[in-house]
Amino acid sequence: MCGIVGYIGEQDATPIILNGLRRLEYRGYDSAGIAVLQDGKIELRREVGKLDRLVDLVRQQPLAGNLGIGHTRWATHGEPSARNAHPHVSASGEVVVVHNGIVENYLELREELTAEGTVFKSDTDTETIVHLVDRFLAVDGDLVQAVRHTLLRLRGAHGVVVFSTREPDKIIAARIGNAGGVVIGYGQGEMFVASDIPAILEHTRQVTFLESRQMAVVTRQGAVVQTLEGKPVQPTLHSVSWDPVAAEKGEYRHFMQKEIHEQVRSLTDTLAGRVDFKQGRVRLPQLNLDAQQARAIERIVITGCGTAAYAGMVGKVLIETLARLPVEVDIASEFRYRDPLVNERTVVLAISQSGETADTLAAMEEARRKGARLWSIVNAIGSQAMRLADGSISMQTGPEIGVASTKAFTAPIVDLYMLAILLGELRGTLSDAERRKRVKDLGRIPDLVGRCLDREAEVINVAQALKEMRSALYLGRGVNMPIAYEGALKLKEISYIHAEAYPAGEMKHGPIALVDRDLPVVAIATQDPWYEKMISQIEQVKARGGIVVAVATEGDERIAALADRVFWVPATPWLLSPVVTVLPLQMFAYHIAALRGLDVDQPRNLAKSVTVE
Ligand code: M6R
Repeated sequence: MCGIVGYIGEQDATPIILNGLRRLEYRGYDSAGIAVLQDGKIELRREVGKLDRLVDLVRQQPLAGNLGIGHTRWATHGEPSARNAHPHVSASGEVVVVHNGIVENYLELREELTAEGTVFKSDTDTETIVHLVDRFLAVDGDLVQAVRHTLLRLRGAHGVVVFSTREPDKIIAARIGNAGGVVIGYGQGEMFVASDIPAILEHTRQVTFLESRQMAVVTRQGAVVQTLEGKPVQPTLHSVSWDPVAAEKGEYRHFMQKEIHEQVRSLTDTLAGRVDFKQGRVRLPQLNLDAQQARAIERIVITGCGTAAYAGMVGKVLIETLARLPVEVDIASEFRYRDPLVNERTVVLAISQSGETADTLAAMEEARRKGARLWSIVNAIGSQAMRLADGSISMQTGPEIGVASTKAFTAPIVDLYMLAILLGELRGTLSDAERRKRVKDLGRIPDLVGRCLDREAEVINVAQALKEMRSALYLGRGVNMPIAYEGALKLKEISYIHAEAYPAGEMKHGPIALVDRDLPVVAIATQDPWYEKMISQIEQVKARGGIVVAVATEGDERIAALADRVFWVPATPWLLSPVVTVLPLQMFAYHIAALRGLDVDQPRNLAKSVTVE
C-alpha cells in the first residue's frame, strides 16, 4: 500500500526521497509524487504509473531543496492519475501533505470545506487534510496546532506527513490507528521520515516508531514526540540490524526468486538462539511462559490473513499434535467482526509478515478487549503487531520485498513447530525422548530446504510445459492441506491463472466434476499419515483423464508410475514436511509468472502491506 518518505537536512532531498520510494515499490502503488521546498516555495512533481515516470519527470523538471516529502499511492478514492497522486498542496500553496489511510468522514469534510469556498483539485479523501491544515493555520498561525486540530477532525486510521512554507524548519509526522507505520530515522544533522524501514535504511539504522495518536515534530536536530492531546512522549530508539544489501536483488531476476532461495538462511536464523540441540530443548523467552501458565491455556486462536493464515493452519496441526491443545484458525477479517468467543484463558496468536495488516491488527485489538492473552509472530521489527502483543516471536527472515510471501511463510511454520514443542514440554504431553527427537528434526531443516531448492531446474521444466494452463486444482490433506491453499494462492496472485485448493477428501463432493485433460491437478502426496489417501485421490483424477503434478518423496515409485509430473522433495519428518513441500510450489508459481513475462514482484491490484480494510 501507499509508501511515504520525508527528508530534512543539508543534502539534496530529491534523490534521497526518490531512492526511498524505490525501496517501497514492493508495497504496491499506481502513482507517485514528490514535493520539495525550493526557494521558499513548494514545488510539486506527480506522475501516474511506475516510479520511473516520476524520475523522468524530475529529470526534465529538476527540483532542488533540503526539505521534502514523497509518496507512492495505491488508489482508494479517485482513479490512479497524476491529479490524484500525493503530495497534495493547499489552496494557499503554503501546506503540503502525504497520507496513508482512509479519511472515513471525507465527504462530510469536503462538503464543509466546499461550503467555505475551497476548490478541490483532486477526487481524493487526502485533499481534505491539507485544506483543513491550511484553514487552522490561517487562524492559529501555528503549524503544530493546525496539524493537531486537523487530525482530531479525521475519522479512520492514518499516517500523515506535512510541511509548510510558513515553518520551513520542520516536518510534522503523525499516526492514528493502524493505517501503516510511521518511522522516524536519526542522522547527523539530518532526519528521515518513512512509512517503512527499508526506505531509510541506507542512511540510518537508528529509528523510532510512532504509536497510534502520536505526532512528531521533526527538525534537522531530532524529533519531539507528543500525543495528539499534547502530552510529551519519550521516544524509544531502536537499532535496526538489517543489512541494506538484503534489500537488493543481487544476482536474481526478481526479489521473489531471491527470497525463495534465502530460505536456507532465514530458517537457520529463525532457529538461532532458540534451539538448544544439546539439551533437546526450545527456548522462547519472548513469550514469558511457565508450566503453570501453559497448562492454564484452554485454547489457542491463530489469526492472520492470506499466507499468514495458511501458516497458522499448519500450526494448528503442529500444536494439536504435540501439545494436545485445541487450536482454531480464524481469518482476521472475519474474527474482528464476529464477536468472537475468547476470554482470558484463550491465547490469540496473530501471524503477520508486515505486522501492519489492518485486519490482523483489528483482530488483535478485539482479542485484547475481550481479555485474551496476545502473542504474535511477526517479521517487521518494531511493527504494530509486534508491539501490541504480550509476547512476540520474530521471524528473523530479513526484509521480504516480493508481494508474494515466501520466506515469511516457512519461518512462522518453524516458529509454530518450536512453540508446539515448548507447549508440549510445559504441558507434559511430550516425553523427554520425543521432545529430543522433535528438536533434532529441526536441525535437519536448513539442509532439507537446500536440497529442495537445488531442484529448481526440474521445476522450470514443468513450468515450461504448463505455462499456458488456464486453471489448476491443488489438493492436500492433513498437515499438507494448507500447502495446497498456499500453492494455489502463489500461482493466482502472480501469474493471474485461476487456481483453487481443496482438502483432497472433499474432491468427491464437487470439484471432481472439473477434472479433464486440460486441468492440471497438483497433489501433495509425501509420505505422511495421509499418504495412502492421497494415492487413491490421485488414482481418481487419473481415472478421469486428469493431469497430475505430484509433490512426492524422493524414490517413491508408486507416485513415479502414477503422476504425469513430479516435484521431488527429500524424505522429511512429516510434521515438518510443509516447510519442504511448499518450496517447489513457490518456485513453480514464480517460474510460470516469469515465463509469462509478468511483473512478479508487484502483481496487479496487490499491495505488500494491506493497511486498509
Ligand atoms: O503482512 P501480512 O503477513 O499480515 O500479510 C497478509 C497477507 O496480505 C499476505 O500474506 C498476502 O496474502 C500475500 N500477498 C501472500 O503472498
